[in-house]
Formats: sequence, structure tokens, C-alpha cells
Amino acid sequence: MEVILLPTAADVARIAATQIASLVSAHPEATIGLATGSSPQGVYADLRRRVDTGEVSFARARGFALDEYVGLASDDPQSYRTTIDRDVVRPLGFDPARVQVPDGTATDLEAAAETYETAIATAGGIDVQILGIGANGHIGFNEPTSSFASRTRVKTLAPQTRTDNARFFPQGQEVPMHCLTQGLGTILDARRLLLVAQGPRKAAAIAAAVEGPLTAFVPGSALQLHRHATVIVDETAASELQLIDYYRHTAANKPEWQRIEPGGLA
Ligand code: F6R
Repeated sequence: MEVILLPTAADVARIAATQIASLVSAHPEATIGLATGSSPQGVYADLRRRVDTGEVSFARARGFALDEYVGLASDDPQSYRTTIDRDVVRPLGFDPARVQVPDGTATDLEAAAETYETAIATAGGIDVQILGIGANGHIGFNEPTSSFASRTRVKTLAPQTRTDNARFFPQGQEVPMHCLTQGLGTILDARRLLLVAQGPRKAAAIAAAVEGPLTAFVPGSALQLHRHATVIVDETAASELQLIDYYRHTAANKPEWQRIEPGGLA
């Protein structure tokens, strides 16, 4: 796992965006796994600037959302279908027909989950999966004790997740109890994982996922099983890591070809 420590949340967004933009510039038909929530917002905003300047185009790329609430109409402003359309598809110029979100309105949710897995496989798999992490260590909506082998399925959201996500919902509207989420096995099948985290509320989850034991109790620790996982954190999200000096040391001593920004930041 590569751990990249950066001074600010804006740096996290810029470096994650650089990595995605260079992948999509080299492979315009790349398939991107799309997280929602606040963590990737800066990444999407940074990518938008690059789209506007012509540095990169997502017109031929594909997207698969990580998860969706169950029971919200797809045009509900809080549904991830609407969120992805608003924050990713339209600003980045994806072809809407090439971006899929699990169908949280389906009457047969198990069938919808299976259909989603098939769609990802048919597209040739996910090239880079963007991830955030919950304060309880979840990735996607794989709450603590989710199996590392899990596939897209229905999950019951943890009370802490529902409380944390209440900030996105208008007063009086409850956060749904259930969701459809890519499983940890689905996420681990992506060719590359890119997790971004900012702020002190994520510090414990980041330390547990990166340096703690591999355990279903901390779903983010599944990243330790992946051959190409990158965790990009700002100073505050990194504050509980034990090996901070080592991550700085490896960054400072990278060979030039491995540097993220030529001649500069490793
Ligand atoms: C979002 C998702 C979640 C979030 C996590 C962090 O699609 O699957 O795992 O990444 O809950 O949320 P934020 O970024 O809002 O702190």
C-alpha cells in the first residue's frame, strides 16, 4: 500500500485528481468506480477544472457508483443516482449512458445487486476505484464485520453512518436504513484503489485501516490485500498513523520516475 501524506485537503484533491486524469488521458475508455460523500468532492472539482482546460476528457470513460440508498426515488436529491449525475456525470462530461448506479428502487434488490455485478464484469472491471472511509472504518457501505469476500448486496447501515450522513438530508427526512453497496470482494477486484481522507474525524479509521490488523471489524483494512492501493491523506487524517516518518522518508527518496509531480512532491 502506498500512503501519501499531504499538507492540506486541497493537496489531497489535486494529487488524487492528477492520478485519475493521467489514467484517463492514457486510457480514455477507462472505467472509474465513483464514491459519493464529501471526501471525493474536491477530487471531482479538481477534475472538472482539468476537463474545462481540455487536459482530460471523460466522454468515453465509464463509471460505476460504489453504492446507493434503498428506497429513495432515483430523482430524490439525496439519492446517489442524483448525486452522481450532479457532481460527476454532468460536470465531468461523462456520457450518462455509460455511468451506472445500483438500483435502490428495485422490488427485487438481490436481483438488482446481481445485475450490477454482471454489468461491472461485462464492462471489463473497474480500472480505478475512488474511495472515502467512514469514521467507523467502512468503505462503500460495507459496515464493520462485512466479509472480505462480499459482493454487491443489501446492507443495513450502521447507526453511526446514518447519523453521519444526516447532514446531507433536509430536516425531517430520515437517512434510509438500507443500501446496496459493492462488496469488499467487488472493491478488491478493481485494478487500482485510491482512497482519500481529510480531517481529524478520519484519523482513527485511517490508522486502523492502514496499520491495524487485517480484520472485518475495520472494512478499510481490506486495502492491505490489494496489490495497488493508494491512500492519500491530509495531515489531520494522518495524525494517528504510527509510521508517519517512514511514509515521509519513502516519499522523499522515491526514484524520479515514481514521483507524482516531476521533480517535486514524491
Ligand atoms: C460513499 C461511500 C462511503 C463514504 C464514507 C465517507 O459512496 O461509499 O464509504 O465514502 O461514508 O463519507 P464522507 O466522505 O462523506 O465522509
